[in-house]
Amino acid sequence: MPGQSRFIFVFLAAAVTCALAQHAPPWTEDCRKSTYPPSGPTYRGPVPWYTINLDLPPYKRWHELMTDKASAMKIIVNSLKNVVNAFVPSGKIIQMVDQKLPGLLGNFPGPFEEEMKGIADVTGIPLGVIEWILGKKDAMWIGFITRSVLENTTSYEEAKNILTKTKLLAPAYFILGGNQSGEGCVITRERKDSLDVYELDSKQGRWYVVQTNYDRWKSPFFLDDRRTPAKMCLNRTAQENLSFATLYDVLSTKPVLNKLTVFTTLIDVTKGQYETYLRDCPDPCIGW
Ligand SMILES: *[C@@H]1O[C@H](CO)[C@@H](O)[C@H](O)[C@H]1NC(C)=O
Ligand SMILES: *[C@@H]1O[C@H](CO)[C@@H](O)[C@H](O)[C@H]1NC(C)=O
Ligand SMILES: *[C@@H]1O[C@H](CO)[C@@H](O)[C@H](O)[C@H]1NC(C)=O
Ligand SMILES: *[C@@H]1O[C@H](CO)[C@@H](O)[C@H](O)[C@H]1NC(C)=O
Repeated sequence: MPGQSRFIFVFLAAAVTCALAQHAPPWTEDCRKSTYPPSGPTYRGPVPWYTINLDLPPYKRWHELMTDKASAMKIIVNSLKNVVNAFVPSGKIIQMVDQKLPGLLGNFPGPFEEEMKGIADVTGIPLGVIEWILGKKDAMWIGFITRSVLENTTSYEEAKNILTKTKLLAPAYFILGGNQSGEGCVITRERKDSLDVYELDSKQGRWYVVQTNYDRWKSPFFLDDRRTPAKMCLNRTAQENLSFATLYDVLSTKPVLNKLTVFTTLIDVTKGQYETYLRDCPDPCIGW
């Protein structure tokens, strides 16, 4: 796919999933209605649920999840090693990462060092490899920032401030929602700083923001315009009618939904509700 892409992170507010688009039928459809609660051919089932107990010591927090996921983790790590060994066949790089990296990098901040040690011991993946995948400590891995924001910030403004200013390892979009009227924005980030913060604005009639995988001041790739259909369906929904049901309708409308859609998440920060559904987009449906 052309153009750069960013990782998308959603906090607290209603989510817009990734998908791909085409203007010509049969890959588009009229705004869907009455798709919620999820059922039928576009619903693949619930997402497994794990509780990470933050009251446990950091070393132990991930044991249950990682015991279940160890073999999947090893497959990912082995394919990464194969890529590296294809470029530098001696195996020296992997050996160095396995053995020397933990010492070279110093400790990760907060609870992360101990948590990763726990993950390394449970999965049998060397700590150096885990640290290598997650990045160095002074260029924060996005997962650490999202985690810190979710765990420790206590207001919309504080979360926005951290997501706007903390240095990142990679560009990203942060989608942030609060529990007060007008609290909602999309933050477009480069590594060093933010390029744009696009906020709700009732004076402009902007009661929602939509983010797909394009900077908002740029046109999407013409085969991948999910922004226009999503906005069109939201425009046909009255603001007072916005709910999990009407949001799920928007996110179930092709091409907002497409073959690259893995899951749909609905979040209501005020009610404390969070629902995730695995998705499918049976033919005819665009996507790679
Ligand atoms: C959140 O704050 C607590 C208390 O200060 C601290 O122990 C913990 O490490 C912090 N969590 C993260 C992810 O930084
Ligand atoms: C909104 O969030 C703040 C913290 O950011 C909290 O103190 C307050 O109780 C919340 N209000 C509602 C109505 O949930
Ligand atoms: C949705 O409504 C907004 C505000 O009226 C308007 O600016 C925008 O062009 C509309 N978009 C679509 C795709 O209908
Ligand atoms: C909002 O919901 C009400 C009650 O279900 C319905 O009568 C009305 O037509 C809806 N408005 C829009 C714009 O969909």
